[in-house]
Amino acid sequence: MEENKSVGNSPFGKTQGEQDKMEKIVALAKRRGFIYPGSEIYGGLTGTWDYGPLGVLLKQNIKQEWWKSMVQLRNDVVGLDAAIMMNPTVWEASGHVNAFTDPLVECKICHIRVRADKKDEISEHEKTHKDKTEWTEPRKFNLLVKAYLGVLEQEQTELYLRGEITQGAFVNFENVVSSTRVKIPFGIAQIGKAFRNEITPGNFTYRSREFEQMELEFFVEPNDAEADKWFEYWKKERLDWYKSLGMSADKLRFRKHEDTERAHYAKSAEDIEYEAPFGWSEFEGIHNRGDYDLKAHGLGYIDEDGKKFTPWVIETSGGVDRSALFFLLDSYREDEKRVWLSLNPKLAPFKVAVFPLLGNKPDLINKARSIYDSLKTHFMTAWDDRGNIGKRYLSQDEAGTPWCVTVDFESLDDDTVTIRDRDTAKQERVKIEELKNFISSKLA
Ligand code: GAP
Repeated sequence: MEENKSVGNSPFGKTQGEQDKMEKIVALAKRRGFIYPGSEIYGGLTGTWDYGPLGVLLKQNIKQEWWKSMVQLRNDVVGLDAAIMMNPTVWEASGHVNAFTDPLVECKICHIRVRADKKDEISEHEKTHKDKTEWTEPRKFNLLVKAYLGVLEQEQTELYLRGEITQGAFVNFENVVSSTRVKIPFGIAQIGKAFRNEITPGNFTYRSREFEQMELEFFVEPNDAEADKWFEYWKKERLDWYKSLGMSADKLRFRKHEDTERAHYAKSAEDIEYEAPFGWSEFEGIHNRGDYDLKAHGLGYIDEDGKKFTPWVIETSGGVDRSALFFLLDSYREDEKRVWLSLNPKLAPFKVAVFPLLGNKPDLINKARSIYDSLKTHFMTAWDDRGNIGKRYLSQDEAGTPWCVTVDFESLDDDTVTIRDRDTAKQERVKIEELKNFISSKLA
């Protein structure tokens, strides 16, 4: 029962199996070009990550699917892309300058800092010292990252990189209302980078200092009945979205925030959590923000009857990086022969790979090239003519490519190819002219 053996102070999980799985994902992510440590050749920069050729496609696909379901397919949500740098008064009004804090304690032996509310991390750290560890009293630590704007040093404006993308939606509330035909209830959707001075970045990309959020701010009539109705509605929508993209239902759950852990703006909050190797972990929050933000910015709404009020906000706030990590973990498969990512084809970086059976036969190469050139106008398509076919399959399996097309000698006679399925490793013969429809129908 190797799986359940405790490994004590593991960075990634409490059992050997959990730790191994994380280490395999981290290694695969680097080896195959999903995720690299940020600024690696200069010794790195803690809490930052760079997405490689496969990772950028995975993230793009997640964002594209999110936008499709949250904006494109809806009549009541519009999009926005607000600036990362905002007038610093925004963050004073929003309460972040005062209240966007984590409690921090410092180990008196080695001076490492840990969040005071992370009891697990505290007890794990205590195990690293032979002597009894003493901690400082908790201190509040503001998470906003400061930046300086302006050419002359003495005239620079001190500002903050946004700690949540959210405030851009609130400060543009009246712009959106007056420039579109939205009527309450309606939402503003946005995807973009946020920055936080996290005390303990870790668990690979899970807690980073620079990360991407995908958020909806949904404005409703200001009363509990409406807010509760939409809160439940969005909870279900968001959980269903992750499931529809293949995330295992038994690894997903909601967790309601205790009164003591809610953010300063939230009337109520529930997280969507995934059972990661390092434990159940939040990757999306559904918040009832009440009228906190619009009131803080002095903004309001006038309905068709001329009634003035401050709408309440139901927010869904997901992490693109955490979703990408959990989609990778959830899709990881291995057996004695191979490792593959069983990603939903909509999320897979490449949809299809095209190979000539042999890399030194011009007829096969030319035919395969023309298929590749045609498919790549519709889908992200990979090309490989190195080594043998078996190795090329293994390589595409690790990248999560759902289908591999091979041009063989039969193809030269009858214009058919083999198409191999990533998950079953089964092959079927398909007419070249039907390839596009074959793949499109599976992506629909
Ligand atoms: N606007 C609300 C808000 O920002 P949050 O719970 O602080 O709420 C929402 O963050 C989501 O942003 C989280 O569920 C997570 O997916 C992502 N996120 C937050 N901090 C993160 C970090 N340090 N690294 C990666 N993702 C993070």
